[in-house]
Amino acid sequence: MMMMMTPIPRDLPLPLPASAFYLEPLLVVAFVAHIVFVNLLVGSSLLVFGLELRGRKDRDFDRLARALATTLTVNKSLAVVLGVAPLLIISVLYTMQFYTANALTGTAWIGLIPGITVTFVLLYLHKYSWDRLQDAKGTHLGILGIAVALLLFIPLVFLTNVNLMTFPDRWTAVRGFLDALTLPNVLPRYLHFLGASLVLTSLFCVAWFGRASYPVEEVFERLTRPQLRRMFYSVAFVVSLAQFVIGPVVLLTLPSRGINAVVLAEIGAGVALAIPAVWMLWKEMVDPESGRRFFKIVGLLTVTVLMMALGRHNYRYVALREHRRAVARETAAWQLASEAARVQARTGVPAAGAAPDGAALFASSCSGCHAKDTRLVGPPLTEIAQVYQGNPAGIVAWAKAPGKKRADMPPMPAMAAVGDANLRAIAEYMLKAGAP
Ligand code: HEC
Repeated sequence: MMMMMTPIPRDLPLPLPASAFYLEPLLVVAFVAHIVFVNLLVGSSLLVFGLELRGRKDRDFDRLARALATTLTVNKSLAVVLGVAPLLIISVLYTMQFYTANALTGTAWIGLIPGITVTFVLLYLHKYSWDRLQDAKGTHLGILGIAVALLLFIPLVFLTNVNLMTFPDRWTAVRGFLDALTLPNVLPRYLHFLGASLVLTSLFCVAWFGRASYPVEEVFERLTRPQLRRMFYSVAFVVSLAQFVIGPVVLLTLPSRGINAVVLAEIGAGVALAIPAVWMLWKEMVDPESGRRFFKIVGLLTVTVLMMALGRHNYRYVALREHRRAVARETAAWQLASEAARVQARTGVPAAGAAPDGAALFASSCSGCHAKDTRLVGPPLTEIAQVYQGNPAGIVAWAKAPGKKRADMPPMPAMAAVGDANLRAIAEYMLKAGAP
């Protein structure tokens, strides 16, 4: 049950652009496509920084950093373009929760726009000033350093925000981004994300620099293809091992509210597939000439990522189910009340006066469970009006001593306390509002 303190905002009474049946899986797929390139963006910027730093003593590493930096801006563009779809889908599916979290982390959230803009300009500046700043490595690394710091911060804001949306019971206590940052789960999840970024980028580097058509001999003086492969495989292997430690912490710090058997099964399947993948990473690391396990590793890890994304999505779905129902009830009650007020304004019938006001009484006593034409806890008014057409007394009798009719609904509580006259007014209102 929702706590009394939980704010329950009213939704916009607009229909979804498509059925949630399509939008929910689309959100998972669109999100995975986006996050893969975000991972590549963050992971590559970290690796370029490390490689260029090492390149000050060893020219080959400078060349490697430069080659990776050219792919970085492409992955950045894809990350941005592919971010539009999940952002739009989540805002129509979880409007109230998502926008509330956006508003609560306001400054940091809006700060993403200048933050992202500056980061991208810095990334291009860094990439195109490689020759010009050849003799001013400190400056060149400084430019990238600021971009990396921003790139580490931006996902943290996103993550804090989507985490905050699953905690409606904390909304009244949260004062801005820093507060939301301290909610459970944010930091382990962030580390898990950084780990995934490094693993994914290392695998990308194995494919990019290890492929047969890459002119390793022309680009580097000393580094060979097997050396490059081994180096990137080792990063992927070590960080993957760390993920097996961070992952369980993420799970343990998740509030149990959203965890059920399906969520656990999805995450479990992801972990089960990651184990052989890490084993194969090890095999490739010790035998970098082979290369035959690469596609198996990528295949397994792709399914792992999909399962994790599915588990994460279902977690949110379950954690927010109760709150979304409450929002739907609040919205329906408000719609009914405003409709009644409009009718009163038009017909001139006084609001509350001599006769009990059916619409207002309905809004306060029944609309928590009954809406006009959507099923909440109980059946919609359209259905009730069909059953009790021309028989308001039947509704009164039922409301005073409800029976058990529908197998898929809980029993309705008895409403005798509302009083006969009031129930009669409610019944007449219900029949009118539910009429076709
Ligand atoms: C806590 C939730 C809840 C509230 C509040 C509530 N109801 Fe119901 N109502 C239900 C449920 C659940 C059913 C379906 C029960 C079943 O069919 O077994 C139901 C069914 C009904 C039906 C259909 C009965 C039939 O014969 O099909 C009527 C009429 C009804 N409610 C009237 C009212 C009125 C009037 C009020 C306010 C005074 C009210 N309800 C308040 C949950 C609620």
